[in-house]
Amino acid sequence: MTKNKFVQALNFLSFNLGSVKPITGPFKLQMELTHRCNSRCPTCGFWQEKKHDEDMSTEECLQIIREAAKINVFRISFTGGEPLLRKDLFQLVRFAKQQGLKVNINTNALLLWHYHEKIIASGVDSLAISLDAPIAKIHDKNRGLEGAFEKTIKGIKKIIAYEERPKILICMTLNKNNCRYILAMVNFCKKLGIDYLAFEPAHSINEYWNCPDEMKMSSNDISEMEKQMELAIEEGNQIVVPPFSYYRQFGKFLKQPEYLRKFRATAGYFFATITANGDLYSSPVIEKKIGNLKKDSLINLFFSKKFMNERKRIKSGKHLIHWFNSTGPFDMSMYHLRRIHLKEIFNIVKSKRY
Ligand SMILES: C[S@@+](CC[C@H](N)C(=O)[O-])C[C@H]1O[C@@H](n2cnc3c(N)ncnc32)[C@H](O)[C@@H]1O
Ligand code: SF4
Repeated sequence: MTKNKFVQALNFLSFNLGSVKPITGPFKLQMELTHRCNSRCPTCGFWQEKKHDEDMSTEECLQIIREAAKINVFRISFTGGEPLLRKDLFQLVRFAKQQGLKVNINTNALLLWHYHEKIIASGVDSLAISLDAPIAKIHDKNRGLEGAFEKTIKGIKKIIAYEERPKILICMTLNKNNCRYILAMVNFCKKLGIDYLAFEPAHSINEYWNCPDEMKMSSNDISEMEKQMELAIEEGNQIVVPPFSYYRQFGKFLKQPEYLRKFRATAGYFFATITANGDLYSSPVIEKKIGNLKKDSLINLFFSKKFMNERKRIKSGKHLIHWFNSTGPFDMSMYHLRRIHLKEIFNIVKSKRY
């Protein structure tokens, strides 16, 4: 077991004993490298931002990575906006790898076909690729871009053709347009040779995460989604990322979000988000800003009194409810660990995803 894995395991224990004071840095750090994007998803506010001139510099990103390694961050996830629009992306990936971190890139994959050689050479561990349907028309509608499906699949095939390659995780964001294609998606991904598949409900919580009314699921859609999800878990249990209980709360999240307060949120403890301009938050919701990493250090801010107070607020359940696949699976995993739910724990270990 590597040192950072061991310390993170102790941190899991400390969280489950009720602590609000992590003994180390977050298990996963999400860095939004830019809010610029080459896609036009109607559920997303990043591409709609007017100003994009405050992105962190390469040196500022390198310093964050350096500090992340010092505080035992296990996985760093480069996201956006679209991270493949950052010219220095592969330099950052290589540096993070040299520092001993696991590295993931979250991408819409529109540029994979162009960058496949650089991606392989960078040594990135995984690519989390957004694919919203196994059918071109539906994916393109969700992405607000004609031809998106074709480009994305072309890029995925380029990566899959390499013998040594990063793991591919497909992320399907569910809304009215695609919620009846969950099972079809499992079969499509299996056929394509995808390693992992995960789902996430489209959120409507602020200007960044905003599913428009016409894309919101009705109660009938939600019931259908729940049925499909059970079939997908059964059919796709080799590729659908556990814990499966995370997906089983989607209906609750959409109809009765308050119910999810029953699961202690891990945001801010095992997880932190840095926005493109360097602001640090406990989760992608960007609810309470802790500070800015252009002006202060990650280590100072992560262990600051302000962040401690934010963790206390989250523990007391006063935060906005969200069910992103970056944090929700952690919340559920900790819940299962506390209650010694062996079946879910076995599924998580078996998947080798974490
Ligand atoms: C903001 S994007 C950034 C990375 C990259 N541009 C991409 O699309 O994969 C990260 C994820 O958020 C998802 N997303 C978009 N709108 C959302 C919403 N309203 N609620 C939850 N997830 C959303 C996307 O489908 C994508 O999987
Ligand atoms: S979800 Fe990703 S691809 Fe779509 S607009 Fe937002 S940042 Fe771009």
